[in-house]
Amino acid sequence: MVERPNKPSSLVATPGLPPQPTVNFSDDNSLVTATLPTGESITVLLYGATVISWKDSSSTEKLWLSSAAKLDGTKPVRGGIPLVFPVFGPPPADHAQTSSLPQHGFARTSRWEFLGKSTSESSGDQQTGDLSVKLDFGLSSAADGLDPQGKAAWPFKFNLIYSVTLNRRDLTTSLVVTNDDERAFDCQVLMHTYLKVKDITNVTISGLDSSSYVDKVDAASTKTQSGEIRIEGETDRVYTADGPVTVSEGGKTLFTVTRDNLSNVVVWNPWVEKAKGMGDFEPKDGYKEMLCVEPGSVGGWQTLEKGDAFEGAQTIALGA
Ligand code: BG6
Repeated sequence: MVERPNKPSSLVATPGLPPQPTVNFSDDNSLVTATLPTGESITVLLYGATVISWKDSSSTEKLWLSSAAKLDGTKPVRGGIPLVFPVFGPPPADHAQTSSLPQHGFARTSRWEFLGKSTSESSGDQQTGDLSVKLDFGLSSAADGLDPQGKAAWPFKFNLIYSVTLNRRDLTTSLVVTNDDERAFDCQVLMHTYLKVKDITNVTISGLDSSSYVDKVDAASTKTQSGEIRIEGETDRVYTADGPVTVSEGGKTLFTVTRDNLSNVVVWNPWVEKAKGMGDFEPKDGYKEMLCVEPGSVGGWQTLEKGDAFEGAQTIALGA
């Protein structure tokens, strides 16, 4: 064997391919799980393309999921990140296009198709060589999995691509809506993220100071936020704001939510009575351990002409 004292260092440092993210399906093909070599993972239910779990490298869950959530496609998932499209909340009485849709539309009640995965070096992490994994999901007006109620109530040709990207320290979800119809349509989009907290009474939400909001628990009146938000009762507010929203507990930053092209953030906690009234909300005192921070475009309508597309995204970073 020839001695090579000046052996290139890359040969020494690269004994084989580095470990890659893995992607697995459940036996019944209803769930996709992606895991990074460093241990972080996400699980996505094809029903609704609902992210139902996001764990860090020590297997600590970051999303709240009701223990009574239906995962069998009979009901939208109570927890995780259900996707709201093409209408947010109950359809407004004065909006003919969406008037027959169910609350929050049909994206969360349709079975999406898994389109594939891609891996890359995490942005900003070239130094460490950390990998990220992106899962793509699709739903179109022609899809077999489209909720029949949605198809009947919203007869437009459309295409949705939903991408879920897991990095070591953050999760990004991004939706592209394309109008494939001859007619224009109006739509709203929202990512209904249920964040897990330990004790809601110690939680503060910052980044929304001076923003205007519609207070859905006070006759939909318009108000202006003053300072940080604390959750001290049923809270259901639609903020209009730019900039990051930070969720802290006991003074420590748990999550920083940034948005791309989504000008609203809903802050929701059902508190005692509303939690009691939801059959799929368990345990009943689970409202103490969750907080919904829901980036969306729901203040008005995105009107898409034939061939137009709209894209919006959220990134939820762990810590500051
Ligand atoms: C929030 C709404 O986004 O979703 C609330 O602002 C609503 O008004 C909540 O109660 C839960 O909706 P659903 O349809 O999942 O029970």
